[in-house]
Amino acid sequence: MAVDRLSLEIPDRSITVLVGPSGCGKTTTLRMINRMVEPSEGTITLDGVDIGRQPVNSLRRSMGYVIQNAGLFQHRTILDNIATVPRLLGWSKDRARTRARELMERVGLDASLAKRYPYQLSGGQQQRVGVARALAADPPVLLMDEPFSAVDPIVRKGLQEELLRIQDELGKTIVFVTHDIDEAIRLGTMVAVLRTGGRLAQFAPPAELLTSPADAFVEDFLGADRGIRRLSFFTSETLELTKTPIVAVDSSAEQIASRATPEVPYLLVTGIDGKPLGWSEPGELTAGEITAERLLPYGRPFEYGKDSLRAALDGAVLSPTGWAVAVDGTGRAVGVVSQQTIGEAIRRAHAEGHRDEKVAG
Ligand SMILES: Nc1ncnc2c1ncn2[C@@H]1O[C@H](COP(=O)(O)OP(=O)(O)OP(=O)(O)O)[C@@H](O)[C@H]1O
Ligand SMILES: [Mg+2]
Repeated sequence: MAVDRLSLEIPDRSITVLVGPSGCGKTTTLRMINRMVEPSEGTITLDGVDIGRQPVNSLRRSMGYVIQNAGLFQHRTILDNIATVPRLLGWSKDRARTRARELMERVGLDASLAKRYPYQLSGGQQQRVGVARALAADPPVLLMDEPFSAVDPIVRKGLQEELLRIQDELGKTIVFVTHDIDEAIRLGTMVAVLRTGGRLAQFAPPAELLTSPADAFVEDFLGADRGIRRLSFFTSETLELTKTPIVAVDSSAEQIASRATPEVPYLLVTGIDGKPLGWSEPGELTAGEITAERLLPYGRPFEYGKDSLRAALDGAVLSPTGWAVAVDGTGRAVGVVSQQTIGEAIRRAHAEGHRDEKVAG
């Protein structure tokens, strides 16, 4: 049996991810939701109504379906691909095309692509067309079967961000299938980890999955670095930043000398625009001269309050001084923070996380 006694409560207006190894029954489960596969036993209810009692046509109309490799009609233009369902629903050509143009914009496709055919688009663009087509009739439910698996990691990240944005704006109920656990953790409000036979190994929010995997199978499937990856659920806003060591490249020797403190053995030099240039040792700077060539690299800055503790820790680990650089949305340095301070924030976050879990039962 492809899927055996799977029981899931899929929350409204959020992304539920089904993840599991190849052949475990993800596609079958998805196809049962729109009745392309009929379960031999059991029921699926939507808003409390058994979908088995609903006419297949109206059921499918309420569900957009995105399949792997986009599955576009090769002989139709991009615009007509997207307009397919509205046309089937009897919309006029004009109205359907206007809607299709709107959707191209929404999924980040340039209007100039409208008249092209699928083979004239990149893989990532084709995936966007697939998403636009599924959204065309504004269905409340979106079923997505490994929609981003055929594109490179960078395009994939872009598509994931786009999907999160669309979800934010449109509030669809999305069931998303993937075999990539990182994608599941990134996108899911709830994540269902399936094992062979469509049996449910665990159904939990991503942070909980990383903290307390139900068994060895889930733990194995989550892979290495569980602790580090969990840090992406904690904000960097709790970090106390130090501003003293930041000096601008045009500072005077006295200004620079006044910044050197025993707690901060290095100074972060910024351009006159406030953006970081690199680290310098104070001894060098008290000579009164800053030469950009002599600076140590500052690693990868994190955006304070927006990026997570994981990004902050990564910045500190990459920095030759062991201090991470915090920037604002415009890239200006707003402070620096040591590995030790980040370590303390991590311990606090874990302690609070555990308290929350207890509250949640
Ligand atoms: N039409 C079918 N008839 C009989 N068995 C099928 C059918 N479709 C799929 N199966 C079997 O059901 C099981 C689950 O298949 P399914 O396609 O749902 O897996 P999946 O989790 O989507 O895998 P993948 O990650 O490779 O896409 C597999 O063992 C498969 O061989
Ligand atoms: Mg599949």
